[in-house]
Amino acid sequence: MVCLGNICRSPLAEGILQAKVLKAGLNWKIDSAGTNSYHIGEAPHPLSQKIALLNGIDISNQRKREFIAADFEKYDKIYAMAGDVLDEIKYIVGKKFNPGKVELLLNELFPGENVDVPDPYYGPEQGFHDVYRLIDDACDAIIKKYSIQDPGNYPDQHSTLKQK
Ligand code: 4NP
Repeated sequence: MVCLGNICRSPLAEGILQAKVLKAGLNWKIDSAGTNSYHIGEAPHPLSQKIALLNGIDISNQRKREFIAADFEKYDKIYAMAGDVLDEIKYIVGKKFNPGKVELLLNELFPGENVDVPDPYYGPEQGFHDVYRLIDDACDAIIKKYSIQDPGNYPDQHSTLKQK
């Protein structure tokens, strides 16, 4: 999960998808990073922490780290929160960039529409609530999509298969 700062949006995306992955019994590794070099080592924005906690998710232990080219090879799927983030990822990764590996997060919710998760950094608290809802819905779509594609990774379906 990648945004610009790894302070507002992507820490929420990491925490939300991690919670859903645990609930679904999947063994995916979830991580987040930011394409800029501000705030390195800092905890997520207080409002991201607050809204996450209101929804039962503690993201206070996350720390900002910068997205590096090696992340692109390390992870199977990279989600960019917005078009400008995708451009930055392309720039950082350079020749090894593979468009098949990266997707705008909200294309999982609104396929092909290339909608950005708005950056709530400069706005009021409501923006963080709106962003939480968008990311939460997109993460539900991701779990549904990849659990169906990979039933062996989904314990409930797997045990059902074994019982037959
Ligand atoms: P984020 O928001 O990309 O959702 O973490 C931002 C946070 C900080 C900055 C930019 C965007 N910044 O430039 O400091």
